Amino acid sequence: MISRRAFLLGATAAGAAGFAPSALGHMAVSRDTLPPNAPVRHLALSAAEMEVALLGPDKPKTQGFCAYNGTPFLTWRVPLGTRLMVDFENRMPTPTTVHWHGIRVPNLSDGVAPLTQEPIPAGGRFTYNVPLPDPGFYFFHPHCDETGQVGRGLVALLLVEDPAEARLGFDLEHIIAVKDWRLDADGRWMPMFTDEGASTAGSFGTVRATNGSVIPPRIEAPAYGDVRLRTIVADSTRTIEFGCDTNNAAIIAVDGQALVPLPLSKLPDEVWRMGPAMRLDVHVRMPGPGEEVKVFDYRTAEPYLLTTLVAVDKGKKKTPFKPIALPAAKVPLPDVRRAKKLDFIVQTSAGATAIAPPLPADDPLAKALIDSFCVGDKTFWAINRTSWGAGADLRLPPPLDILKDGDSYRLTITNVTKHVHPMHLHGHVFRVLSSTRKTAIPPYLADTVMTEPNETVEIAFRAKSGDWVFHCHILEHMDAGLMGWFRVA
Ligand code: C2O
Ligand code: CU
Repeated sequence: MISRRAFLLGATAAGAAGFAPSALGHMAVSRDTLPPNAPVRHLALSAAEMEVALLGPDKPKTQGFCAYNGTPFLTWRVPLGTRLMVDFENRMPTPTTVHWHGIRVPNLSDGVAPLTQEPIPAGGRFTYNVPLPDPGFYFFHPHCDETGQVGRGLVALLLVEDPAEARLGFDLEHIIAVKDWRLDADGRWMPMFTDEGASTAGSFGTVRATNGSVIPPRIEAPAYGDVRLRTIVADSTRTIEFGCDTNNAAIIAVDGQALVPLPLSKLPDEVWRMGPAMRLDVHVRMPGPGEEVKVFDYRTAEPYLLTTLVAVDKGKKKTPFKPIALPAAKVPLPDVRRAKKLDFIVQTSAGATAIAPPLPADDPLAKALIDSFCVGDKTFWAINRTSWGAGADLRLPPPLDILKDGDSYRLTITNVTKHVHPMHLHGHVFRVLSSTRKTAIPPYLADTVMTEPNETVEIAFRAKSGDWVFHCHILEHMDAGLMGWFRVA
């Protein structure tokens, strides 16, 4: 049942777009995830181009950087349980949408063209209804020409704060945003989508950076203090192996969802592999005054220094390290025993022909077309022989499957390609149950899961009504076919 309020909120969001959304005739309005009396916060959001010195001081500046509200890595902190009504204006010369990654939003605020809205043209506006039912570390980004716009900087962070966390005793919280820049020596953008990249591991940035800076940040933290390090891979392409040079570090949340603290020292190679879109909260205990903790990406042959934490004396005494557990996550959990099993293969598109169930002919989405500006011009990838539209074939593919609202599903995802694919499902938080390669990791909650070549991972979730995409978060892969969708009705 769709509550009248949820329907009205959806209608507001669609009506504010200022044009007739073509595909919204179908019943994809999903249940609200907050009570009707939840506090509302109205926020203005715009996307525009600007000039930024990305290569460092004394180097040529970069034009055409894309940012929200004129702020690279705009960061919003909002109390848990708030409903954001976001008045968005597109001040860029090209179409865009906004997707609220990892947040259980109503389907009409999910930002996916053409499933949930039309692209917002230059000068256009759209109001997003973004309830925040779960604490954690989220982000938002475009979902049309995502490769081009995110490549040029268009991402923002959204931290949903549980007041109970303030009492946990962290001395410092610090964000590490991993994002490279694809620039030539004169600070000009290089093409974000290349056939060579899109058909392999993706086109990497030419310049590595942390929080926008090519110089790894040095951050002061109280000696013997407790630091909450919140890391996001906001890059379009890069996968990192997060690690640090201390034994006193434990993972306390994945993709914003709390887990029983997992010491990094218990993991294979003492690292956590993070692909594009993945977030990780780590509790780090600082050493004594003057000492440092270095945080690295160990995936590259020469470990890349992401950030240095420098211990400064603030009068804190040395105590044994005990990882701080966050309040347990409260997202709807799947009934794994009764879950229906579905199998998905991530593959190249060679010879792909859809085997998915077609939509009824009278469904407004049955003949929907994808805006050519939103996707790449070639198709290289598929899920179960079905590719998202790209290039000359811009028809919306049929759904990968039609699921039932409230039912639990257990998905196996098998990667039969030679490259990693971080797979993301919209509108849900899922449980990662198992992996054929990472057998030492207990189940945890996430919204994006890494699949390595020849690996099968199993996830489970409780389906929520709406039309939700399921895709690789290496953006060129997604724009070259590696995206499908589920109808949950
Ligand atoms: Cu960050 Cu479709 O996702
Ligand atoms: Cu991929």
